[in-house]
Amino acid sequence: TYIVNDNCIACKYTDCVEVCPVDCFYEGENMLVIHPDECIDCGVCEPECPADAIRPDTEPDMEKWVEFNRKYSEMWPVIITKKDPLPNAEEMDGKDGKIELFSE
Ligand code: SF4
Ligand code: F3S
Repeated sequence: TYIVNDNCIACKYTDCVEVCPVDCFYEGENMLVIHPDECIDCGVCEPECPADAIRPDTEPDMEKWVEFNRKYSEMWPVIITKKDPLPNAEEMDGKDGKIELFSE
């Protein structure tokens, strides 16, 4: 599966949702997640994210992000249409410690 990590927080560009063939992105207040059981591993979303927040779970130490993505994808609504990024997206892209800004 692929997952969304904390660099999506406070950016939420949403370019990713336009390309997913199975519509498995789910939207929280300030980030998206991927449902790990619905993702078919096609990889097309990864290069579309301007914040480089989409990673394959084959990278090291991804288990916590898979569980994070699973948890919130089961709570949040699906998103299938691109919308405007969050207002400070450019400024926030790549900032450290974004997990503290996460809102459920
Ligand atoms: Fe969707 Fe493919 Fe990205 Fe998985 S890897 S979230 S199926 S676009
Ligand atoms: Fe987030 Fe990147 Fe999608 S910032 S909303 S994962 S395009």
